[in-house]
Amino acid sequence: MKRIGVLTGGGDAPGLNAVIRAVVKAACIAGVECIGLEDSFDGLIYPDRSRPLTLKNVTGILRIGGTILGTTNRGNPFVYPVNTSDGPVDYSDRVVENFHKMGLDALVVIGGDGTLAIAHEFHKRGVPIVGVPKTIDNDIVETTMTFGFDTAVAFASDALDRLHTTAESHHRVMVAEVMGRYAGWIALYAGIAGGADIVLIPEIPFSLDKVAARVLEREAFGASFSIVVVAEGAYEVGGARSIVTSGTPDRAERLGGIAEYVSREIERLTGKESRFVVLGHLQRGGAPLAYDRVLATRFGSFAVELLLRGESGVMTALQSPDIVAVPLEKIVGRTRNVPPAGDVVRTARNIGISFGD
Ligand code: F6P
Repeated sequence: MKRIGVLTGGGDAPGLNAVIRAVVKAACIAGVECIGLEDSFDGLIYPDRSRPLTLKNVTGILRIGGTILGTTNRGNPFVYPVNTSDGPVDYSDRVVENFHKMGLDALVVIGGDGTLAIAHEFHKRGVPIVGVPKTIDNDIVETTMTFGFDTAVAFASDALDRLHTTAESHHRVMVAEVMGRYAGWIALYAGIAGGADIVLIPEIPFSLDKVAARVLEREAFGASFSIVVVAEGAYEVGGARSIVTSGTPDRAERLGGIAEYVSREIERLTGKESRFVVLGHLQRGGAPLAYDRVLATRFGSFAVELLLRGESGVMTALQSPDIVAVPLEKIVGRTRNVPPAGDVVRTARNIGISFGD
């Protein structure tokens, strides 16, 4: 192992730079050269989109959000979007060719389920790869936690604290929409940490009548305001997800708009004034909190350890308290959802949080 490439793919998450830093530090200390590949697999499609990463290049990036390498969620080399009317093209052979031309021995691929599935395909084509799971959504199977989640939850729960004071002053219902795609982890954790009254998640379809009933119940015992957290992927019983843009072969569908709908319906059903806010990409920005910095550093260092041992085709994972290697094939095509009967949902129910069911 003389030279490795490192890339970040998919949506950014606080802690990406901490992984890059750990990979570069651990590799350099072990005498392995690091090449930073820009904007996900673009760094292997276009050879001028890569650069050496030395200890000096990663100094001071631990606390910085985003990724110094850039990222994209439209860079799947198997269905690469090009500006022609012919639709996406397959650049995967070019990627493998450039991997060898650049003298790389292995790749560290930091990404979510989509990027890790691409990594798995390249591993099957003979490219040694270690994946590092990344997403604020915390929806990757086989790992207890992904870095970025803790920071996103802290931001969302701080937002709920702020919504509380204005909700209480105006006797309103405030509805906050959080990210998470098809998993309700951010909504659930932020809802508990931020003292929400109603939490709507994709794993538990909700009824607006039940949501309205909880708001009125609170009114009856003297709480003239309510805080609702709704995951972007949540939907009504018998209804469908709220979608901004449909998916295409090279791009996942965009979710959003559910908070506005829920807020409007609560107002209609209860007669109480309601406002909504979409926390959106604010949840992905900013400096990673300490927990995410530590987890990201453990993942990055372990990825290099695995490559030095000659292991690949695996993903680093937290299986508390250990960091372990999980075969990439075990995670592809699966989503880690909130178990509706699990202890976190039960905890929320026990303290009176409604899921609108
Ligand atoms: O997967 C991370 C995530 O932030 C999701 O929570 C969200 O649905 C999606 O990415 C948004 O993607 P984009 O940045 O392309 O709008």
